[in-house]
Amino acid sequence: MPTNHIIVLDHRPEAAPSAGNFKMITAETPALQEGQVLVRHHFLSLDPYMRGRMNAGKNYAQPQPLGEVMIGGTVGEVVESHHPKFKMGETVLCMGGWQEYSVINATLPGALKHIDTEKIAISHYLGAVGMPGVTAWYGLVKIIHAKPGSTVTVSAASGAVGSAFGALAKARGLRVVGIAGGKAKCHYVVNELGFDACIDYKEHPDYVSLAKALKEACPNGIDGHFENVGGMVLDAVMLRVNDFARIAVCGMIAGYNGEPLVMTNPSVILRSRMTLEGFIVSEHMEVWPEALAELSNLIASKRFAPKETVTQGLAAAPEAFMGLLKGQNFGKQLVKLI
Ligand SMILES: NC(=O)c1ccc[n+]([C@@H]2O[C@H](COP(=O)([O-])OP(=O)(O)OC[C@H]3O[C@@H](n4cnc5c(N)ncnc54)[C@H](OP(=O)(O)O)[C@@H]3O)[C@@H](O)[C@H]2O)c1
Repeated sequence: MPTNHIIVLDHRPEAAPSAGNFKMITAETPALQEGQVLVRHHFLSLDPYMRGRMNAGKNYAQPQPLGEVMIGGTVGEVVESHHPKFKMGETVLCMGGWQEYSVINATLPGALKHIDTEKIAISHYLGAVGMPGVTAWYGLVKIIHAKPGSTVTVSAASGAVGSAFGALAKARGLRVVGIAGGKAKCHYVVNELGFDACIDYKEHPDYVSLAKALKEACPNGIDGHFENVGGMVLDAVMLRVNDFARIAVCGMIAGYNGEPLVMTNPSVILRSRMTLEGFIVSEHMEVWPEALAELSNLIASKRFAPKETVTQGLAAAPEAFMGLLKGQNFGKQLVKLI
């Protein structure tokens, strides 16, 4: 059996994580039991939710246990199988974690899934044709459900979720305005993803200034918003919403390291009769097939070409993860493991 390299959570961060929170260990992969499959990971997905799991406190999911492999989505190939539905060489998706190999109990429903890499690159199954893509779909279709011609906005617009949101919204004939950090990201959002406009929030010292820029980019106001960040960005959007606006609260990354997140004008919720709805995509498995079919179609037909930041080697994963929380990624953050 091959030797495995594994990154475990060694201790919990107080604020922003550091390399010292993680530890790399080496172990032999165990001999397979009946129903188990050994997967060699090609890519590991790094996602903001992992920061929440590193805390001990109450959250929507159990904390990441100390000393155990860090949780994470992976794609790879079957290298040994004791399950009749999985054969050597097949490409699969699983929650393999921050390690080079995983042993998956394939008898558990959904634990190991075949993926078709003929028209869609294997890595996209961790991004646009995976959990982040379905997240964008759920917020747009099930929460915002805007009418064609109306205006929607999204923060962290160049990222894995934000870029998929833009592609799905454009396909529905909406005016889509992104909010992202830096000129290069905004240029990509407009010129490559096809958003109608993008605002660089880093050019604005406060939410009032950002709200002025939103007024220019959204002359008819904002009908729907997909929130990934929180704080100043959400404050600015709230000043520009139309009556009965619908806001999908997907993420609050500006507060994941414990930073306080204020909402400056909550009275807007009442005044505009706004709907603000938080959601966790893994609690809506019923929509995944429909969402994935649409997202696969967009990618296979080349109407959506998501960007990826690919970091090489498992040892670089902690650094890449810390970068993701600071906006150093550009598009979907992945770690290549082969
Ligand atoms: N509810 C759910 O089920 C669910 C599922 C998946 C993801 N999410 C959430 O969706 C959001 C986006 O996830 P993703 O995977 O697509 O990540 P991503 O957008 O690819 O990467 C994170 C981005 O967040 C932005 N960011 C980081 N710190 C920030 C700060 N302090 N202020 C403003 N922006 C900051 C950065 O973009 P800029 O450089 O543009 O600032 C960074 O590139 C996250 O909040 C995540 O937790 C929720």
